[in-house]
Amino acid sequence: MDKYEGYKIILQERLSEKRYKHSLNVADTAAKLAIVHNMDADKAYLAGLMHDYAKNLDGDELLEIAQKNGILKDDVEILAPHVLHGPVGAFLLKEENIINDEEILQAIGLHTTGSEYMTPFDALVYIADYIEPGRKFSNLDNIRAIAYKNLEFALISCLDSVIAYLLSNGGYIHPASVRARNAAISRINTRNSN
Ligand SMILES: [Fe+2]
Ligand SMILES: [Fe+2]
Repeated sequence: MDKYEGYKIILQERLSEKRYKHSLNVADTAAKLAIVHNMDADKAYLAGLMHDYAKNLDGDELLEIAQKNGILKDDVEILAPHVLHGPVGAFLLKEENIINDEEILQAIGLHTTGSEYMTPFDALVYIADYIEPGRKFSNLDNIRAIAYKNLEFALISCLDSVIAYLLSNGGYIHPASVRARNAAISRINTRNSN
């Protein structure tokens, strides 16, 4: 039996066919990236598989869970509660005893907004969500190629792309995404100057 079978059954009960398929694609992509970048492929697969655990909840439900459990980090989450499916998903997975690994929970929690505190593992899951083969955003082939070479550059490209999209269609921009981008650029600059 597939060692992820139990997780897949849980997920299939919650998500639409399309979102379930996306989850499988993110899991595969995360595992591939992990192998290339010498990270734990099993953990990456599981984080990718479960990252959208709370995606079936609507904005009001997400906001209610977030408010009750002290998950809200910024007022923009009240205006655009959909971004809470990351942190609320991580909270529920822990609460329901489905995942206890803190590294996986953190990556799931940060996959919607990013953060200045993102680890390489968090970045890997964030990128996998963005570049999985079912995605059709423009410029993706370029980001896909970068992702297998340098996670930091790929993270910045993903954040640029997300922020540019929000700018072009009048969406709210979460400050954590801006801070994540600044932090990634700063890490690269620090490395280059050493
Ligand atoms: Fe998501
Ligand atoms: Fe996703």
